[in-house]
Amino acid sequence: MKAPAPEVNAEFRVRVPVRWRKEVERILITEDQIAQRIQAMSRGIERDFTGREMVVVSLLNGTVMFLADLIRNLSLPLRLDFIGVSSYGAGTESGDLVFTKELRLDVRGRDVLLVDDILDTGKTLYRVLGKLRALKPRRIKTCVLLNKAARRVEAVEADYVGFEIPDYFVVGYGLDFAERYRNLPFVGVLYPHVYKQVSQQLIPARPKRAGRRRAD
Ligand code: IMP
Ligand code: MG
Repeated sequence: MKAPAPEVNAEFRVRVPVRWRKEVERILITEDQIAQRIQAMSRGIERDFTGREMVVVSLLNGTVMFLADLIRNLSLPLRLDFIGVSSYGAGTESGDLVFTKELRLDVRGRDVLLVDDILDTGKTLYRVLGKLRALKPRRIKTCVLLNKAARRVEAVEADYVGFEIPDYFVVGYGLDFAERYRNLPFVGVLYPHVYKQVSQQLIPARPKRAGRRRAD
């Protein structure tokens, strides 16, 4: 049986580095905690994939950091490819899914490890798994850094989970808010004013009136 993913202790506080202090309210998972957990997850993945050449399929863009650290820890032959998925929703709610990059490698008869940053409602993994299964791989295992079980809409679970987190919108270590904050080395929570500022910027400016409108 697989070891359960650790739950993040929401009460435990680590000081936010000075350069992020105006925007980041707190750190939920530190760099060290992430590194340690990835090592443990990698050992589990290695055990399950030993003797097979795996194809790692990673979802863009949120997996950049997680993927880089994960595959560096995997001492197995592997091939790597990406699927681009974007959800065009405003703010912190996911909207409609759009595929921005298709898979190039042939996965028929192969052992696939599907990697995503976070499993939230499950809509993304559900759609991607459907697409991948149609390509007839031998098996697909799923791996996510974070799991927000409380928000699940689709019946999808990941085989490897880094951390179970409460229902917070989180950023950093690849995860974004409005395409920002992916470069934070930790997983953190933003101050509410940051979300407000960005959503205001997203509201289209009203067109200027050329002159007084005639009543007609
Ligand atoms: P799902 O389709 O609702 O499971 O969401 C999956 C995708 O939504 C992830 O791959 C992320 O890109 C994005 N997402 C969900 N929750 C968060 C969050 O807390 N922070 C940043 N992105 C998130
Ligand atoms: Mg993503």
